[in-house]
Amino acid sequence: MNQATVEFRNVSKQYGPQGAVVDLSLLVPAGDICVLVGPSGCGKTTSLKMVNRLVEPSSGQVLIDGQDIMKIDVTALRRGIGYVIQQIGLFPHQTVAENIGTVPRLLGWPRARIQQRTEELLDLIGLDPARVRNRYPAQLSGGERQRVGVARAMAAEPPVMLMDEPFGAVDPIVRERLQNEFLRLHRTLGTTVLFVTHDIDEAIKMGTRVAVMQQGGHLAQYAPPTELLAHPASDFVSRFVGVDRGLKRLSLLRVADVHLEPGVVAHVGEPSQSARHRALESESDWVLLLDKGEAPIGWIKTVELDHAQALTAQDVDASSPLVHHETTLRDALSMLLTSLVQTAVVVDDQGRYLGTLTLDELGLAFRSDPAPQSAPVP
Ligand SMILES: Nc1ncnc2c1ncn2[C@@H]1O[C@H](COP(=O)(O)OP(=O)(O)O)[C@@H](O)[C@H]1O
Ligand SMILES: [Mg+2]
Repeated sequence: MNQATVEFRNVSKQYGPQGAVVDLSLLVPAGDICVLVGPSGCGKTTSLKMVNRLVEPSSGQVLIDGQDIMKIDVTALRRGIGYVIQQIGLFPHQTVAENIGTVPRLLGWPRARIQQRTEELLDLIGLDPARVRNRYPAQLSGGERQRVGVARAMAAEPPVMLMDEPFGAVDPIVRERLQNEFLRLHRTLGTTVLFVTHDIDEAIKMGTRVAVMQQGGHLAQYAPPTELLAHPASDFVSRFVGVDRGLKRLSLLRVADVHLEPGVVAHVGEPSQSARHRALESESDWVLLLDKGEAPIGWIKTVELDHAQALTAQDVDASSPLVHHETTLRDALSMLLTSLVQTAVVVDDQGRYLGTLTLDELGLAFRSDPAPQSAPVP
């Protein structure tokens, strides 16, 4: 995989007397997505542009894989860095394919290889090559243009990508899709990414590490998202992440992170009395009925298990939300709160029963704070 570390070492940028970025030190490990987030004017764009030398630091150093970028030829440097900004920069008089092939052409790749790479990337970003490769940017939707922008930046597999509010100009639904696509793409390509946004929700979703910046160009905190939410380092960070930081943390945890209860289960065809016996033994008011293939059917009240027949689907008194390992705890909680039994049923990809998730277990997982852990200091 093509990836490199990026390090800011005591980097400052002055415009006149005013500091745009002040003494910034942070290390982005290879393959991470580092999100720079903060209010408008706090120095995010300036920091990003110091990585590809669109802006030169007044003092301090930026290093890629340990090498001072001021000692690298600027053209070579920029070819190794993908750059995506809002609304830009697709060349309007070039087709989608020509746009994506820009850097590979500059690098002198053979035509066949460029063509193959272009088709591959269009597939990866979910655009049908046959449909879009010969179109011009004006013939695409906003979301499609932004996807092509990302594909163009990634074309030569640069070890570093800089993205400045890349999804800021599209509507919320398209934005969510672009974010998810990008995260998927990143899992296959593994590039080191510096990503700028002013939106804390986007930062928490996209970042493996989040750098919160503050007015005046100061770094307020640099930490993985869960730690940022559990332990904001200052009042500013705490206000910036918002009063609902608890709920935000729940959206970072998944059912797979929680201890599941085995629960009291019974199977269709089983004598009612034996199920009742087990329920009384574990002091459970409800028994979960499963079909022969282990798929949950619903809950039966223990007090209703007093008849002599074998259990059938007709005995079920209540149903409960089904969740999967990938379901976020935020979604699981909202389903739990609206269900009668207040217990979610966890199933695998084939719909087979795995266990139950109770409000208590969910609360426990939530309260087990990640230990305060400091981000790597250069
Ligand atoms: N070329 C420039 N000349 C003078 N001041 C600038 C220039 N670029 C940015 N600034 C100032 O530097 C500060 C940080 O800007 P910027 O990095 O664009 O912030 P952000 O991207 O976080 O909104 C702002 O106060 C801005 O006005
Ligand atoms: Mg900016």
